[in-house]
Amino acid sequence: MNEDRSTRRARRLLVTGGAGFIGSNFVLHWCEKHKSDRLIILDLLTYAGNRNNLASLEENENFRFVRGDICDRSLVDKLLAEEEINTVAHFAAESHVDRSILGPDAFIQTNVVGSFTLLESFRQYWLKKGRSTDFLFLHVSTDEVYGSLNPEDPPFSETTPYAPNSPYSASKAGSDHLARAYYHTYGLPTIITNCSNNYGPYHFPEKLIPLMSINILLGKPLPVYGDGQNIRDWLYVGDHCSALDVVIYKGKPGETYNIGGNNEVKNIDLVNKICAIADELAPNLPVRPARELITFVKDRPGHDRRYAINATKIKTELGWTPQETVEGGLRKTIQWYINNPDWWQPLLTPEYQEYYRQVY
Ligand code: NAD
Ligand code: DAU
Repeated sequence: MNEDRSTRRARRLLVTGGAGFIGSNFVLHWCEKHKSDRLIILDLLTYAGNRNNLASLEENENFRFVRGDICDRSLVDKLLAEEEINTVAHFAAESHVDRSILGPDAFIQTNVVGSFTLLESFRQYWLKKGRSTDFLFLHVSTDEVYGSLNPEDPPFSETTPYAPNSPYSASKAGSDHLARAYYHTYGLPTIITNCSNNYGPYHFPEKLIPLMSINILLGKPLPVYGDGQNIRDWLYVGDHCSALDVVIYKGKPGETYNIGGNNEVKNIDLVNKICAIADELAPNLPVRPARELITFVKDRPGHDRRYAINATKIKTELGWTPQETVEGGLRKTIQWYINNPDWWQPLLTPEYQEYYRQVY
C-alpha cells in the first residue's frame, strides 16, 4: 500500500555526498531529529569528503557509510534495493567554482552523469515498487544556475530563467533540468531546491569564509577577488538543513523551492567582519588587527556580480524562514575554526597547496 510522506514516520534515506560540508551537517541534523530513520551515506570521499565529520555516528546502528561513486549504476541499484530506500537526498557534487574553471571534466561527470545515474536507478526501483507516492528524490542545487544580478534587479525567484555562467553552475543547471524532466516525463517524485551560499562548521578550506578564517589564524594574506564588491546571500548551514527537512516532509513533487538567508553582503564587508570577529575571539593572532592581511588579487574569470534569493515560496507554502543572523552565524563559525585546528590542518595537503598556487 502506498503511504504519504507527510504521514509516514520512519524514512529510509540514501544521502549522496554525506561526508561533504552540507551533506554531513544534514546527516548530523537528521540523526538528531529523526532517530528512528535509517541513513545510508554514499560518498566517494574526493578531496572534499571527510569521513571524520560523521565520526560521532559510526556506532549508530541506523547509520551506514558506503564509499562509492554516484556514477556506479550497479552500486546504486544494489543500495536502493538492499536498503529499501524511499528517499534520496542528493548532495554529491563537485562544488567549487574556481576548480571548475581549472578543470571542468569532473563537474560534468559527477554533477551531470552522476545525477542522471541516480535518477534513472531510482526510477527503475520506484517502478518495481509500484510507483509509491512515499518516494522522493530531493535534488539539492544552487542559486548560481540563475546567473548574475545587477544591483537594481529583484532577487532570484523560482521562475527566474536559468543563465549559468561557470562550468560548475552549468553542470548543476544540467542536473536540475534532468530532475525536472524525470518528474514531467515519468512522474518520478522529484523536488529541486536552489540555495544561496552556505557557511558553518566542516566547510572545506577553499571556500571564502573558511579560507579567510584559516588564513587569519595562520597570519597569511586574505585574497579578495577583483574590487571586492561582489555580493552573496549568506545562509547558515543549520538553516539550510532545517529547510531541507521541511521540504522532505512537506514539499510538493515537481516543485522547486528557493532557499536563502536574507543576508546580502559585499565580499569586502564580509571579510572585514570576519577580521573584526577574529580579532575579538582569537587570543594569539600572528597579525593584529587581522584586516592588515587583506590583499586584492586578480578577479575570478566570469565572476558573477550578485546573487540574492527571494525565499517567499518556501516561507508561505512550507512555513520555513532562516533563524541565524550573519553576525551570529559568523561568530559560531569562526569560533569553530579556532577550536578545531585538528579538523582543518590535515586538509592543507601538498595537493591543496598546489591548487592554491594555481588559483592565487
Ligand atoms: P562539498 O564539495 O563540500 O561536498 C561534496 C561531497 O560530494 C564530498 O563529500 C565528495 O566526496 C562527494 N562526492 C563528489 N563526487 C562524488 C561522486 N562522484 N560520488 C559520490 N560522492 C561524491 O559540497 P557542499 O558545499 O557540501 O555542497 C553540497 C551540495 O549542495 C552540492 O550539490 C552543491 O552544488 C549544493 N550547494 C552548495 C552550496 C554551498 O554554499 N556550499 C550552496 C547551494 C547548493
Ligand atoms: O551560491 C551558492 C554557491 O556558493 C554554491 O553553489 C557553491 O557550491 C559554493 O561554492 C558557493 O559559490 P561561490 O563561488 O559564491 O563561493 P566562494 O566561497 O568560492 O566565493 C564567495 C565569494 O567570494 C565569491 O564572490 C568569490 C569571492 N572569493 C572567493 C574566494 C575563495 C574571494 O574574493 N576570494 C577567495 O579567495
